[in-house]
Amino acid sequence: MTIGIGLLGLGTVGAGVAAILATPAGRHPLVGELELRRVAVRDLNRPRPVELAAELLSTDPEAVVDDLAVEIVVEVMGGLEPARSLILRAIAAGKPVVTANKAVIARYGEEIAAAAARSGVYVLIEAAVGGGIPIIEPLKQSLGANRIQRVSGIINGTTNYILSRMAAEGAAYPDVLADAQRLGYAEADPAADVQGGDAADKIAILAGLAYGGPVPREAIPTEGIDQLDARDIAYAEQLGYVVKLLAVAQAMPSEQAMPGEQAEQLLDVRVHPTLLPKAHPLAGVNGVNNAILVEGDPVGQVMFYGPGAGAGPTASAVVADILNIAGIRQATGGRGTQAPLDPLLAAGSWRD
Ligand code: NDP
Ligand code: HSE
Repeated sequence: MTIGIGLLGLGTVGAGVAAILATPAGRHPLVGELELRRVAVRDLNRPRPVELAAELLSTDPEAVVDDLAVEIVVEVMGGLEPARSLILRAIAAGKPVVTANKAVIARYGEEIAAAAARSGVYVLIEAAVGGGIPIIEPLKQSLGANRIQRVSGIINGTTNYILSRMAAEGAAYPDVLADAQRLGYAEADPAADVQGGDAADKIAILAGLAYGGPVPREAIPTEGIDQLDARDIAYAEQLGYVVKLLAVAQAMPSEQAMPGEQAEQLLDVRVHPTLLPKAHPLAGVNGVNNAILVEGDPVGQVMFYGPGAGAGPTASAVVADILNIAGIRQATGGRGTQAPLDPLLAAGSWRD
């Protein structure tokens, strides 16, 4: 029995997803059952890297969501609106959603999780953080027995690509940024990458999962790499350091606790360029790669590493989420409903 997929967006990630669905090579038993039924784009005449029947394409994303042949909605158009409204529309129609849109989840994750809980549908977001690296599912499930002390890492591929090439080749910032855009790593507006906003969206999501409650996105102190000078990178190199854009979330005891009192835990979440000694585990993470270091009790340190952006890696994560839903749907004989997988985003809240 095939499973109908509606794709909202056919850019870098959407085309990557369509390519996997067109020639499924994966070993998952359901990968050959996924069928692309409708695709929303802005421009019907734009050349695409994947060949699709013209009748699949539509400039009306609401019609794609509403199409009865579409059973799972995949939102890879980016931006806040109409992406948020389309996700909510799909949920209201009882359709599970897969999204790579960290900007929407970081701001509206609580609203979306609550809507998903009401409708009893899954909303899966593996591709929203770390591109091809599995990190959402491990934080929710595999590390669920741990008290998380710290989540830190390099979670923006574009800026790591820029910093790595500036350090290795002395490449000029605007040239490397243009390459990152050409390779499909950068956001539609690359200011989100270079000013640190994309990493802040992602660490808000990771912190929400690690600490059990939504983190107010606007409260995250954020500094990007756009104010760095080539000389900063060269001087760091001479002193035995590398410059990396780090995102950090850690639980800290409140200073207001009196001796002997149980200290209230506060959450420290931030994004900023950081000097790392060359021997640091994150210092050797170069190019578009990302790495996320999770420190927990009792597990200790666990590091997740891999390509953090680009069509193939991101589509791999998106299709994994689709397969997750398809597997549940098959097991339950239903629509992939019940028990939305992101209850943590809806539970409680951290305050600064
Ligand atoms: P692109 O800009 O390459 O693609 C966006 C697609 O959405 C385009 O096909 C565009 O149509 C379509 N689209 C945008 N707005 C509308 C609209 N209102 N109606 C119909 N179609 C619309 O983005 P990416 O593929 O790079 O990114 C998509 C999402 O995935 C974003 O949320 C991004 O943050 C996230 N992401 C991206 C990664 C990457 O490596 N690029 C990695 C991880 C997540 P048209 O082509 O006609 O213009
Ligand atoms: N623009 C993002 C990055 C895409 O460079 O990391 C992956 O989320």
